[in-house]
Amino acid sequence: LITKAFRSQFVIPDFQDFIKDIEEMYWSAKSNTDGKVASYIPQLARASSESWGVSICTIDGQRFSIGDVNVPFTLQSCSKPLTYAMALETLGPDVVHKYVGTEPSGRNFNELVLDYNMKPHNPMINAGAILVCSLLKSLDKPEMTLAEKFDYVMSFFSRLAGNEVLGFNNAVFLSEREAADRNYALGFYMREHKCYPEKTNLRECMDFYFQCCSMEANCDIMSIMAATLANGGICPITDEKVLRPDSVRNVLSLMHSCGMYDYSGQFAFKVGLPAKSGVSGAMLIVVPNVMGICTWSPPLDPLGNSCRGLQFCDELIARFNFHKY
Ligand code: DON
Repeated sequence: LITKAFRSQFVIPDFQDFIKDIEEMYWSAKSNTDGKVASYIPQLARASSESWGVSICTIDGQRFSIGDVNVPFTLQSCSKPLTYAMALETLGPDVVHKYVGTEPSGRNFNELVLDYNMKPHNPMINAGAILVCSLLKSLDKPEMTLAEKFDYVMSFFSRLAGNEVLGFNNAVFLSEREAADRNYALGFYMREHKCYPEKTNLRECMDFYFQCCSMEANCDIMSIMAATLANGGICPITDEKVLRPDSVRNVLSLMHSCGMYDYSGQFAFKVGLPAKSGVSGAMLIVVPNVMGICTWSPPLDPLGNSCRGLQFCDELIARFNFHKY
């Protein structure tokens, strides 16, 4: 890092100028009062609609954070690209995609629907993510107990995040599990259609899915994860090779086409970057070969994406040529 700094070889050489733009965009989105905080469980409903944070980590480890960047939030659906990445890494894409497709569903993230092969459409919607959890549980180190598996996944996520320690919100986990009629319906519907690997214990698999949704991080930490994805799988903070380049390519391709709920097509058109949002108001945004970004603000639009996060992305693309095309 220091050698690069002396040679001015950073991917964003004028980082101080860049930060000024980010700060302006931050303050402009701060005054946006659109959207509603998710209310399907009380723990999420209590989140402040004022909270707003943005963190950036470049592929050479330059970092900037502004706002509520140290406040923990649950990963929710932002865990989906991470569990998918882990499954690709440990099982390989051929095994994973025997069970889950790569097509946008064109439907809500929790709809009771499978594709024409009777597989979940993709790993970024609930059905697909539940299935990925079953693969992680039943095919990769099947001898592990659920407790061991939890630690194993936590430490994998932490390696993506430069060894920062993630948290776990037990109240959210318990609530998610109580308020999960639709997810159980999806779970049983997939069992009816023999979607899972043999020996899958559905109850354990559902718990594992709720646990992944209930892991906690903050903007700062999540921006490092996004930067690892931007950097071909090498964490820019630790230089550890966490993911193979082909796993990263697959994750980013599906974040690009399926990461923003039923707004994914419009987001791909307008913003042109791989991203994933979650109901806690977080968004992971990847600018490949440049940087990872995490935004967090709980008020969501009707499709479930963070209003301030979307505004930030629109402004990012208006100011910089990060759109892929
Ligand atoms: O499964 C659920 O309903 C939530 N815990 C996950 C929510 C989420 O962020 C929506 N995802 N696609």
